[in-house]
Order: sequence, then C-alpha cells, then structure tokens
Amino acid sequence: MFITFEGGEGSGKTSLIKYITNALSTYDIVSTREPGGSMVAEAIRDVVLNPKYEGVTPYTEALLYAASRAQHLDEVVIPAIKANKLVLCDRYIDSSLAYQGYARDLGFDFVLSINQYALFHMPDLTFYIDIDPKLGLSRINHRQDLDRLDQESINFHDRVRQGYNKVLETYPNRVVRIDGDRTIEEIANEIITIIKERL
Ligand code: TYD
Repeated sequence: MFITFEGGEGSGKTSLIKYITNALSTYDIVSTREPGGSMVAEAIRDVVLNPKYEGVTPYTEALLYAASRAQHLDEVVIPAIKANKLVLCDRYIDSSLAYQGYARDLGFDFVLSINQYALFHMPDLTFYIDIDPKLGLSRINHRQDLDRLDQESINFHDRVRQGYNKVLETYPNRVVRIDGDRTIEEIANEIITIIKERL
C-alpha cells in the first residue's frame, strides 16, 4: 500500500509520519519524503528550495518537482511497492497541484500533464492535514533554515490551502481531510485507525 501525507507549512506531517512509523512497527514500512528521498532527488530538492536560487520561475519549479518525483519513484517508491512494503511518503503529486497548480496559478491540467509518470503510480490513500496557515507558519517561524517556499507571503499560503480544498473535491475517494489543530497523538491515532481499516 502506498500512502501519502499532504498539508501546508507547519502542519506537522514530519512528526506525524515518525509517530505512525513507530506505532506500526510490526509492518514492513518505508517512510520517505518529497522532494528528495534519494541522492539525485535530494540534489534537485536543493535547487528548488535553497533560497540562494531566487530566480527559479514557476514553470521551472513545477518541472523540478516533477523530475524529483520521477527519480524518487524509480529509486524508492516503486521498488518498495513491488517488495510489498507499506510506503509512507511525505508529500506527492497533490503538493504540486496545490502549490504550483493553484497557488502559482499554473493550473491543474499543466501539473497533471508534466506528472504523467506519477499518474501511473497514484497513492491508495492520502491524508491531508488541514490547518490554518497562520497557525502553521507560527509553528515554524522560529526555524533558522526557512526554505524558499516557507518564505512566501501569508497570501500564498492561504492559496495553497484553497488549492488543497480543490484537491479534496477532485479526489474525494482517495484523499481524507484530517483536522490538524490537535495534538500529534490525537491526529496520529485517527490516521492509524484508518490505515488499519484499509490494510
Ligand atoms: P519541506 O521542508 O519538505 O516542507 P514540509 O516540511 O512543509 O513538508 O519542503 C517542501 C516544500 O516544497 C514545501 O514548501 C512544499 C513544496 N512543494 C511544492 O511546492 N510542490 C511539490 O510538488 C512538493 C513535493 C513540495
């Protein structure tokens, strides 16, 4: 089973995935993240997120995420699925739909067209951790290493949330909305119950 986690900045996905991976330790789990998760994909991640590359345009950004995704699929996700592992992935194509398709205004169709390869390998289940961007940004603001997208305006992050709402409307059978304004334990337990029902 291939499960992805989505949400805006500071939605707590990374801690949640750690918690869930520990709680489901009896399963053979591969937990990974996008953009990155392999050497080449991590290099692409640096180009797309390092604030020193301030000239990255929206189309280039979308293509870099798609490239990183293709590499990560071939190196990490597809081999793990073939080996019957439970794959937990921090972000996938829905991030591109919400951030590049909606917030950057490139449109869902464009994002889908450059992500054809990912469309052959869609997740069985996606958890969207929904929180108010003001709360999410207040959780991460103390960090020293804010990346190029973290540094975008609150207006941009509000648009990302609207983009995720459109993702929810478009894929109601695959994407489950989770209220992110609760403790990690509460959120993780809700998610673990849903995963166990589906396994
Ligand atoms: P990351 O540090 O992983 O953020 P988070 O901890 O919030 O998941 O950085 C990933 C950033 O890349 C995040 O701002 C969202 C953005 N992103 C896109 O814009 N499009 C994409 O397709 C993906 C995978 C990520």
